[in-house]
Amino acid sequence: MKAIIPVAGVGSRLRPHTFSHPKVLLNVAGKPIIGHIMDKLIAAGIDEAIVIVGYLGYMVEEWLTKNYSIKFTFVNQPERLGLAHAIWMCRPHIKDDEPLLIILGDTIFEVDLLPVMTSTTSTLGVKEVDDPRRFGVAVTKGGNIQKLVEKPDTPVSNLAIVGLYFLRESGSLFKSIDHLIANEIKTKGEYQLTDALQLMIEGGEKFTVFPVHGWYDCGKPETLLSTNEILLQKGGSTKQYPGCIINEPVFIAPNASLENAIIGPNTTIGEHAVIADAIIKDSIIGNYAKVGHIMLDSSIVGNNAWISGNPHEINIGDYSEIRVR
Ligand code: UTP
Repeated sequence: MKAIIPVAGVGSRLRPHTFSHPKVLLNVAGKPIIGHIMDKLIAAGIDEAIVIVGYLGYMVEEWLTKNYSIKFTFVNQPERLGLAHAIWMCRPHIKDDEPLLIILGDTIFEVDLLPVMTSTTSTLGVKEVDDPRRFGVAVTKGGNIQKLVEKPDTPVSNLAIVGLYFLRESGSLFKSIDHLIANEIKTKGEYQLTDALQLMIEGGEKFTVFPVHGWYDCGKPETLLSTNEILLQKGGSTKQYPGCIINEPVFIAPNASLENAIIGPNTTIGEHAVIADAIIKDSIIGNYAKVGHIMLDSSIVGNNAWISGNPHEINIGDYSEIRVR
């Protein structure tokens, strides 16, 4: 079965890191966000991925083809007109009667995909949330979806749509998106997938929901760090470093160098990073970063960045150089 993974967005909420890298290549718990997604998809039997690229798309393409051997089709979305538009761009690569799995490129999930992919109805992953106003939500009755609402101002349901969609047949989805685009029907300025699915429901298509308990957003610095923490807690490294204290869970790239450091908990140290005389907790340190004479908490340090001195919480992009005396 084919999976569609839209990753064309600019990731503005994760600047400065996304100035030099697409969001999905940011490291969380030792591998890029999209690596976590691909591993889950391949384990579930997905053998072909259609990846919608745009902003820094060549980097995504290069990383995926280097690290995975399944068939990839890269579709360029030149303008970010919304998720429905992104999916619509894939039309030439999918037959109308083909089933389809769509997964957002910035969401790491924990769910058994096999029952989803063999569902007899189209079905959407949902999770109960306290404040549904930030999400698309599903109003259900007896397990069937009655209505979908994108970012409701008044709470109609607390079942947020998590970004994992299974469609029995892709043809009717494309027809709905045709309708949105032909009539310029946008919500919050974009062609929304939620609106296209709602049109299908209105047209009589049956949709059910399935629960996604593990749903880890990576779209903002705070959620990237909390996802890093959650994933590390599921299994970190146990290697010992002489002269250092490692407070698990952590991920430390095998080729990183550590000297007189206290690392963790909940910390990722990237490839070839050099850490000396430092205390680092709840943080993500990029590849080839150099960190010294510092105590860091809840911080994100980009690739090739250098930092030494005594700030406590920082968010610095690639190639930054900060020396505080
Ligand atoms: P987001 O809106 O969360 O991602 O879209 P973004 O645009 O990259 O991030 P911000 O809002 O600027 O911080 C969810 C997913 O859908 C993809 C994005 O790449 C992301 O993986 N997307 C969204 C597209 O591929 N095309 C679009 O037109 C919109």
